[in-house]
Amino acid sequence: MKRDLISMLDVKDDLEDIIDLGIQLKRKSKSGISIEMLKRKTLGMIFEKSSTRTRVSFEVGMTKLGGHAVFLSKDDIQLGRGETIEDTALVLSRYVDIIMFRAMSNKAMKELAKHATVPVISGLDDKEHPCQVVTDLMTIKEHKGKLKELNFVYLGDGGNNMSHSYLLGCAIAGMNVKIVAPKQYWPDDYYVKEAKKFGTKIEVTDVVEDSTKDADIVATDTWVSMGDESEKEKRIKAFEGYTIDKKLMSHAKSDAIFLHCLPAYYDYEVTKEVAHGKQSVIFDEAENRMWAQIAIMVTLCK
Ligand code: CP
Ligand code: NVA
Repeated sequence: MKRDLISMLDVKDDLEDIIDLGIQLKRKSKSGISIEMLKRKTLGMIFEKSSTRTRVSFEVGMTKLGGHAVFLSKDDIQLGRGETIEDTALVLSRYVDIIMFRAMSNKAMKELAKHATVPVISGLDDKEHPCQVVTDLMTIKEHKGKLKELNFVYLGDGGNNMSHSYLLGCAIAGMNVKIVAPKQYWPDDYYVKEAKKFGTKIEVTDVVEDSTKDADIVATDTWVSMGDESEKEKRIKAFEGYTIDKKLMSHAKSDAIFLHCLPAYYDYEVTKEVAHGKQSVIFDEAENRMWAQIAIMVTLCK
């Protein structure tokens, strides 16, 4: 049976094993030891949206594993001219060993995963961004030495892919999660309900004041995700007061770290002072996309 990663729930039983594998392979590779565990394997990468990190980290990661990646922009393949997702999945499965898909919708993601006969990894859709959250948890573990019982606070768009995957991923890892967002941008009930099943403290609030108190990790993401561009003005107005600045960071624990999946828009969701400040680990996070995805690909190809 092939195994996919399109929701954080797909790794609920071995999330920490994948994180530890990422940390171990990063160390190994950096000390000059070969990690060619997917020799001559090919990754097909379909993009329906823009990307810097996802594209480069998957491609370079596959090279480090001894394999090869093929970049497929929706505009360049027949999918963009109306070939079905089903046929695209069936055809690509005859050529490649893994498919990575950055999709407009979770529905399209599920459709591709249903018909592909090789593992499908989400490179983000409108509901979740699992590779990023596996990465972020790996980054937290590197900096904090553990995950369990840490307090994770996310401010900003609570209804987007990052917020949903954080809810699930942090809960699976045994962390307490607080989502701070204007009411109209709260997470879908489904993700809150699923996160609560793991037994940690899950809170959703619109109160910014004191929200970062006792936080071990403070995180945010853009207020205007890909696909939300037509609502830009409305969103910027609604999120006023949710900018993570020095003052909000100063209420967190003194050794708290700041996370952002990037790309960042300074002076909206976060000030540059915080994002490039000494508590920020955003560039470790960007680098770790590659190591976490190496561990994900190795695990799914087992
Ligand atoms: N964080 C992230 O997924 O970045 P890209 O959109 O550049 O891939
Ligand atoms: N929430 C953002 C993440 C970008 C990596 C988006 O979907 O655009």
